[in-house]
Amino acid sequence: MDELRTKYIEAIAAAADEATLEELRVRAVGKKGEISLKMRELGKMTPEERQVAGPALNALKNEINSALAAKKVALSDAALDARLATEWLDVTLPSRTRRVGSIHPISQVTEEVTAIFADMGFAVAEGPQIETDWYNFDALNIPGHHPARAEMDTFYTHRAEDDERRPHVLRTHTSPVQIRTMEKDGAPIRIICPGRVYRADYDQTHTPMFHQVEGLALGKDISMANLKWVLEEFFSAFFGTDVKTRFRASHFPFTEPSAEVDIQCSWEGGTVKVGEGDDWLEVLGSGMVHPNVLKAGGIDPDEYQGFAFGMGIDRLAMLKYGIPDLRAFFDSDLRWLRHYGFASLDQPTLHGGLNR
Ligand code: PHE
Repeated sequence: MDELRTKYIEAIAAAADEATLEELRVRAVGKKGEISLKMRELGKMTPEERQVAGPALNALKNEINSALAAKKVALSDAALDARLATEWLDVTLPSRTRRVGSIHPISQVTEEVTAIFADMGFAVAEGPQIETDWYNFDALNIPGHHPARAEMDTFYTHRAEDDERRPHVLRTHTSPVQIRTMEKDGAPIRIICPGRVYRADYDQTHTPMFHQVEGLALGKDISMANLKWVLEEFFSAFFGTDVKTRFRASHFPFTEPSAEVDIQCSWEGGTVKVGEGDDWLEVLGSGMVHPNVLKAGGIDPDEYQGFAFGMGIDRLAMLKYGIPDLRAFFDSDLRWLRHYGFASLDQPTLHGGLNR
């Protein structure tokens, strides 16, 4: 019995893992283990012998079982310690730096434009980018045969072969929002509508998708003089310097009279500077809203009148921030975005100063 005790207690102490421990358990106290077999022999003993051997074997079995249990706990503690040592993590280390995104110049300029017009009492209106040709053309006094339809390089949506209805278009300008706003709000109106527009065109100064901002002011006595003041006020605030404008007689089906507006600029060393010099740069189309357009929007042209204008936001961004190629605006090149982008907390406001 002493031999058995010594053999198993030493082996248990020396076991390096749980598998070895289990093997020892089976060999010692398992059904056919050495100690279990010894216990079976008790039956063949004399009662006197049994009285001595029985309790001694039981004690030995208990001793081995508790040695196994203790060793098992010790092994799993050791395994946990080893894991804790290898999987150690220093949570006080500085984290990896993450690059913060930037605001696209178009978004920035849209915010700037909105801030300036909001200060003059203009609210922001919106409309869908996929338009019916009624809103994009007819309601704006551009009937079916009108050459302006072809000139605008319109994208048409697809209709099923036997579907006779006229296809929807990707709006070619923000002017349909004039009609939608008239229908929804009635006169008087003072809104701008910044948004995406589409034309099939692509070169250094044209992309198939670009941005315009529409302006519309309707009232009892709104005139071209008000238009001129509003635009000069806008350009001076936007460029941060007094900007002269030049109105040139022009033609749009939806305004009468119509004017294209140039802003004062200089060309020195191939770069354009707004608000100085004696060159002119065309930046927008405008005019007094045509009576037919007011009628299409459900407004009585004998009672109300007003002006409308439309200009390119991308163009304004290029001019103000010296960005040479329009196509790069929409390439999503991270190097370009980091270079020309704006800090996300740098919200343009009039009281914060638009021209830092
Ligand atoms: N819609 C015209 C364009 O896209 C611009 C414009 C708007 C002209 C409003 C006059 C009045 O070119």
